[in-house]
Amino acid sequence: MTAFARNQWYVAAYGREVGRDLLGRTILNEPVAFYRSEETGTVVALADRCVHRRFPLTAGRLDGDRVVCGYHGFTYDTTGTCVYVPGQKRIPRTARVNSYPVVEQDSFVWVWIGDPALADPGAVPRAKHLADPGWTTVGGMEPIDAGYGLLVDNLMDLSHETYLHGGYIGTPEVAETPTTTEVDEGAGIVRVSRHMDDAECPPFYARSTGIEGRITRWQDIEYHAPCLYLLHSRIAPVGVLPGPDGDDSHAFHVEITYAITPSTDGHVYDFWCVSRDFAQDDEEVTTFLHDFNRTVVMQDVDALNLLQKALDTEPEGYQELSINIDTGGLAARRILARLAAEGAGPSVPVPAPAR
Ligand code: FES
Ligand SMILES: [Fe+2]
Repeated sequence: MTAFARNQWYVAAYGREVGRDLLGRTILNEPVAFYRSEETGTVVALADRCVHRRFPLTAGRLDGDRVVCGYHGFTYDTTGTCVYVPGQKRIPRTARVNSYPVVEQDSFVWVWIGDPALADPGAVPRAKHLADPGWTTVGGMEPIDAGYGLLVDNLMDLSHETYLHGGYIGTPEVAETPTTTEVDEGAGIVRVSRHMDDAECPPFYARSTGIEGRITRWQDIEYHAPCLYLLHSRIAPVGVLPGPDGDDSHAFHVEITYAITPSTDGHVYDFWCVSRDFAQDDEEVTTFLHDFNRTVVMQDVDALNLLQKALDTEPEGYQELSINIDTGGLAARRILARLAAEGAGPSVPVPAPAR
């Protein structure tokens, strides 16, 4: 099981999901309650456990910008400080729940899991196309009963498209075309590229672009560990891509975005978006891409649910066999292991100096 990397930004929700109803998400084993402040319009994130008897705050209600616990009425302000307890005037000094740093950006609500003092809002990775009027985006979120490492593996190696998503987004050329991998260890970014010069056009692109016949298809993955995965996809009839000087402006552009947010051990939130820069106002294309891509995502969900179940019954220390297609995924695993070790802090107590 891939260890969790603390002291990182994670996508908790789409901005549109967070309003005046309490929304609960469990991220890196931490139950968090989200709501939008009436006063400032910003998103508030508080630990979803009442300090009194641990009742989930998401089962309570909002009173203006305050959260009222649904069990005995402890009431918290936006900083998590308790401002009311029943039956007495004195509020215990320790009556507060954690509040989490939040950044709302590119249509996502990002939450910092770890030491709040280390949270740098400027370090949230960007997915600008998601909130850019030059793109039309569809998306959703599916919970998966699998460790988040399995979803990272899945997304870093798209050769599975040919087999798991054949007839949807996969064609023989995806599995047959070798990839190149670049790793920026320091920045925690893995890039995997596959450029197919002459490939079958899968229904996903044929029906959205109207292209008939064979295509040039470029897949350029950019994974910002641990949470954000971008797939820059370019599609054009054979002979159009690349244009002079490597220009790709005559291609159809599709940005596939995933946010991979570990929930509890063996469970992950799979946020997915498909953005396009063509047929932007065509509702039929919008509906098609949403429904079709959700079907594709559910193929992955089913496969990863099955895979996790199988792995759960494997003996400790089971073997895998990796080949070239796994280069990007293995690099991602390495980076995640490093981030998890860094986020965990010193794992052994430092002994007192000898005198
Ligand atoms: S558990 Fe919340 S007030 Fe008692
Ligand atoms: Fe897939």
